[in-house]
Amino acid sequence: MDLRQDFLIIGSGIAGLRAAAELAPVGRVLILTKAEPREGNTGYAQGGIAAAVGPGDSPALHAADTIAAGAGLCDEQAVTVLVEDGPRYVHELIEWGAVFDRDPEGNLALALEAAHGARRVLHAADATGREISRTLWARVAGLSSVTAHDHARAVDLIVEGGRCVGARFLREDGTLGSARADVVLLATGGAGQVYSDTTNPLVATGDGVAMAYRAGARVADLEFFQFHPTALDVPGQPRFLLSEALRGEGARLLNSYGEAFMTRYDPAGDLAPRDRVARAIVRESARTAGKVTLSLEHLDHDFVRTRFPRIAAACQLAGLDLARDRIPVGPAAHYMMGGVQTDLDGRTTVAGLFAAGEVACTGVHGANRLASNSLLEGLVFGARAGLAMAQSRQASGSGEPEEARSPNASTPWSLPTDTSIQSLMWRHVGFFRDRQGLETALAELEPASRALEGRLQTGEPLNASQWRTASLLTTARLIARAALRREESRGGHYRSDFPKRDDILWKRRESEGLHTGGSFSARNGSI
Ligand code: FAD
Ligand code: SIN
Repeated sequence: MDLRQDFLIIGSGIAGLRAAAELAPVGRVLILTKAEPREGNTGYAQGGIAAAVGPGDSPALHAADTIAAGAGLCDEQAVTVLVEDGPRYVHELIEWGAVFDRDPEGNLALALEAAHGARRVLHAADATGREISRTLWARVAGLSSVTAHDHARAVDLIVEGGRCVGARFLREDGTLGSARADVVLLATGGAGQVYSDTTNPLVATGDGVAMAYRAGARVADLEFFQFHPTALDVPGQPRFLLSEALRGEGARLLNSYGEAFMTRYDPAGDLAPRDRVARAIVRESARTAGKVTLSLEHLDHDFVRTRFPRIAAACQLAGLDLARDRIPVGPAAHYMMGGVQTDLDGRTTVAGLFAAGEVACTGVHGANRLASNSLLEGLVFGARAGLAMAQSRQASGSGEPEEARSPNASTPWSLPTDTSIQSLMWRHVGFFRDRQGLETALAELEPASRALEGRLQTGEPLNASQWRTASLLTTARLIARAALRREESRGGHYRSDFPKRDDILWKRRESEGLHTGGSFSARNGSI
């Protein structure tokens, strides 16, 4: 039987939950979430949430840093919304019970991270996302109009008469269900799993981008993928993130001879923007034929263990002492700057469909995201999408139910394996890209995507693991296509064959849609 509520939210990270809190007073809200309720990038966020709440700071200074990091491509209106609404929504989180670290006088303890000109990162030790998730779940659990279904993987959006009216989802037992609503929010997070080395959990497979693209929504800026420079690099251990806040507190990057090297690559040294630190680490490792390490030996050991307990525990599992040992690090796929194109209120190009958080592309990050701006984006634009959805519902009627498709006869087909997609993306669509590598990747991704589309058109059901692969494949292909189109280097997109930034030809953002005339670009900011 179909589930029917006023609002459907797909995903239960910061963006989805903040939207739910906004919508609960005006209607019945259904949240579908793919795995355990708190599983998603939000729960893993370490460093903190940026907001201009400290003395000497201001939204204008925060905007200037965000725009500088975005390398010429931020949508400045979106940035203004982020930095001006940010402090209000962060204070609201505190009123709702979020406990952030404070100094001995009781003021918020604000951390410094790369490319921030001021201390403006609120944190809860090194588990800020977990604290935010706890707070939002507590808020939402107290609202009787919100229902959440976990282990319910949305697989396809239902579009009728050009309007999104719900989603089909796969339950844990493999049965399909459908959920209908007047308005739908995609809050499915990122796609780090598209790469073999990632800081992202298993659920981050780009499902929202794939579903929205198939439903005809435009996607934008997908060539810009952020590789975090410092993930744990110990064979056999997960690529656990070693927060930038470590360097904010004084940790140093050392080459295999034990020398600090970052100032040779960038005047900002260890706190240079992430893309530059990531490339410097790879080059320095190659130059010295050894691993780069992160060292906190010179800092107070008790301070290190108290300030970063979760990271210290992860290092311990790998047999390392965060305070005393040099910790081997290397880059890993971390954050998707692009996504489903939205306006400032989360509207996508498909009526009835909204998107917020990492899955969305408001243009706020341009070509490169400033550290700790992502939680803030999820919070601010999740709330704004909620407000706009409430209004949009009053203006809409729900679509007519469509007839169920009956599967055609089975045709033989096969999908690539997840690991083959991930390794292809890491090798050819990672932090060093060139035409030859991108074409090699697309030569595998394009035919596989066509086979997938053919299969989906038959209406024959896919199982959970095939849906996972389908999302990886669709998102990987879109990233690779966007990376091939952009013949320059900027922010999170580096082309060895076009190593310079080219503002004459490429100071523009690009988007792509299935039914809306291929790729499209706009100079500067909004598209
Ligand atoms: P998520 O929190 O990822 O939530 C997505 C939700 O959608 C999940 O509930 C997931 O299960 C669900 N979902 C996905 N697909 C489906 C589907 N098909 N059907 C149903 N449900 C689905 N940012 C910062 O600003 N500061 C930090 O300190 C920071 N540290 C980070 C550390 C790590 C290790 C990582 C991985 C990221 C970090 N980030 C940080 C980035 C930030 O955490 C994310 O960008 C942000 O939390 C995304 O929030 P979200 O609500 O958009 O998505
Ligand atoms: C980190 O703590 O280094 C991650 C912060 C972020 O992704 O913004």
